[in-house]
Amino acid sequence: METIPLLKPYKMGNYQLSHRVVLAPLSGPAGVSETAPGYPEIPGIWTKEHVEAWKPIVQAVHDKDGIFFCQIWHAGRVSTYDAQSNGKAPISSTDNGCTPGFQGVDWSADEIPQVIDDFRLTARYAIEAGFDGVERAQDGHPGRIARYPLLAMRKAFKGTFITGGGYTKGDGNKVIDENRADLVAFGR
Ligand SMILES: Cc1cc2nc3c(=O)[nH]c(=O)nc-3n(C[C@H](O)[C@H](O)[C@H](O)COP(=O)(O)O)c2cc1C
Repeated sequence: METIPLLKPYKMGNYQLSHRVVLAPLSGPAGVSETAPGYPEIPGIWTKEHVEAWKPIVQAVHDKDGIFFCQIWHAGRVSTYDAQSNGKAPISSTDNGCTPGFQGVDWSADEIPQVIDDFRLTARYAIEAGFDGVERAQDGHPGRIARYPLLAMRKAFKGTFITGGGYTKGDGNKVIDENRADLVAFGR
């Protein structure tokens, strides 16, 4: 009998996955520092206190034999003053903000090395909290993903490639069968 593509096993680094279906990130990625949030009250993992708070959550997933990756991000130019502590200007590699009226704000590139370090530390903290790995948030917006050429992205990226956004069971089977992605994220 022919194997259903989404049910084919996949080896991801040290992990032997029994199928190709992953749960889409649906909680807001974990910020890497207090400058990371793109909107208020998103999760974070940049202090030891955060690490401790994540531990029981990770344990609960492990208790059900789940493999749990932490998605980490810095919102950069997507952020707004409202999401920043003390109402400071968001930091970004560009002064081209996403929120109308933010263009031309004097954002500086000086903070970028610090942000890179924040990503390093947060990745370590995630592992300390028990996560099985980390994932960098690329672009969670299905409308925008749809505009990127999937194959070009797949070729440019060496790691496990997860696609997602509006996939049906049929679409998912097709994308795996045609080897255009390794795994498919489903949210709905
Ligand atoms: C409430 C909610 C929270 C989300 N949080 C994230 C997130 O933290 N990171 C991310 O990359 N995408 C996030 N997304 C986007 C979903 O992961 C993405 O839309 C999903 O792949 C869509 O799958 P679906 O079309 O099967 O629902 C979120 C979507 C929703 C609805």
